[in-house]
Amino acid sequence: MVDICALSFVADAARYANEEAVGRAIKDFTSKSGVPREDIFVTSKLWDADHERAAEAIDESLRKLQLDYMDLYLVHSPGNLGTEARLKAWKDMEAAVDAGKIRSIGVSNFDVDELDHLLANCRIKPAVNQIESHPFFQHEELREATIARGIHVQAYSPMAQGAALERPEIVAIAKKHDKSSAQVLLKWGMNVGNIILPKSLTKCRIVANADLFDFELDQDDMDLLNSLDEGMKMGKLGPAGTSAPGSRRGSQAGSRRGSQNNGFSGGKLAMSTS
Ligand SMILES: NC(=O)c1ccc[n+]([C@@H]2O[C@H](COP(=O)([O-])OP(=O)(O)OC[C@H]3O[C@@H](n4cnc5c(N)ncnc54)[C@H](OP(=O)(O)O)[C@@H]3O)[C@@H](O)[C@H]2O)c1
Repeated sequence: MVDICALSFVADAARYANEEAVGRAIKDFTSKSGVPREDIFVTSKLWDADHERAAEAIDESLRKLQLDYMDLYLVHSPGNLGTEARLKAWKDMEAAVDAGKIRSIGVSNFDVDELDHLLANCRIKPAVNQIESHPFFQHEELREATIARGIHVQAYSPMAQGAALERPEIVAIAKKHDKSSAQVLLKWGMNVGNIILPKSLTKCRIVANADLFDFELDQDDMDLLNSLDEGMKMGKLGPAGTSAPGSRRGSQAGSRRGSQNNGFSGGKLAMSTS
């Protein structure tokens, strides 16, 4: 892998119809830069309507991406086709891992019961649970339950979709470190052990959002950020979040908690243009 996040392409499910564009971008980038495919981390997802035809959906994604394998493939959400369909999808994903079509498999928007049902019935454990998490909706109980099960937390909407960048508390911390509000929110996510998925369509923001390694939030900053959870859920999907008042979320403790198994490690960054 190339350093921090390597080069990460998030195709994000056939649903968003961006796999062909991501495939073209990867091909263009690897041929112009000489960076080998192995140094790029490619993620896509199984859309909710495809739980009963995951094997075909995986092949379609690979064809559109023009790739032999994906690094990470997620069940986008528990969906509404039922537990049998969800387990069938997972078995198809396990078979795709066996066949070398996918390196790691995971889930998204799963609550604790859905994680436990899968864990009781799977052969390959999910590597990640991708859920919304940022200081204003930290999802602490689900984060802790996910991590306790040896599954990494991937955080979507890590900047709360840009909705709270002007908040005085965030602006003050950003000013103190001569960084942007977006960088402060992203650093919080890294410090609590989330694998953060910042999205931007703006080149200078993509660069700035990856420039997170030359400053540290101190304990006062983390305490303030940890106190900001007000249930500001940006997305419609996923279980409701609850704070866990009194839980200890120090910057170092969080980073350690997030570094576990499956070749993933918390506190990492993956850029998203989906
Ligand atoms: N699993 C799921 O159900 C799920 C749901 C939602 C999202 N996701 C994933 O998570 C990724 C990110 O989440 P998200 O898009 O919801 O939220 P986000 O990354 O928190 O925020 C993206 C928004 O913030 C703006 N932004 C980015 N960098 C900025 C900066 N430095 N300063 C000011 N504004 C900035 C972007 O605008 P510009 O583009 O104009 O820069 C965009 O409007 C998505 O791409 C997707 O892959 C997954």
